[in-house]
Amino acid sequence: MKRILTYGTFDLLHYGHIRILKRAKELGDYLVVALSTDEFNAIKGKTAYHNYETRKKMLEAIRYVDLVIPENNWEQKVQDIKDYKIDVVVMGSDWADSDKFDYLKEYCDVVFLERTPGVSTTQIKSDLQLQEAVSGVDQVPQT
Ligand code: CTP
Repeated sequence: MKRILTYGTFDLLHYGHIRILKRAKELGDYLVVALSTDEFNAIKGKTAYHNYETRKKMLEAIRYVDLVIPENNWEQKVQDIKDYKIDVVVMGSDWADSDKFDYLKEYCDVVFLERTPGVSTTQIKSDLQLQEAVSGVDQVPQT
């Protein structure tokens, strides 16, 4: 059995998330997602809309995902690979030009998958804020 591992926050689940999970699963038979905890997001300067438990339940409901584990820090990857007998770590292409994950190649394959263009959690949040601002302007009483 070929086992795949990927990392992320997966907040405000969107089509880009579903696509990377589908393609990651297609690389093997069993997909583990290491999901950033709220505490780890705070260290990264990120605040998720949905808390860890909610994001975990949503990921577990996706047919491509076999197991969700917590991502608590940057240093746990080698231990995760050993603990879950991982064959391939999948990262989004945003990391492809970096050598940050080269050290993992000693333990398993590392594959970078193209990000889906035009969608991200950050983009969704800012689009909704913009819409709110625009509709707020519309609601100003006319004199
Ligand atoms: N991802 C992707 N295509 C997108 C958005 C995300 O393939 N359009 C991938 C990322 O490369 C990562 C995984 O989905 O492997 C989880 O990414 P995450 O950072 O949680 O999602 P983003 O939408 O990028 O969130 P943010 O805007 O907060 O960075």
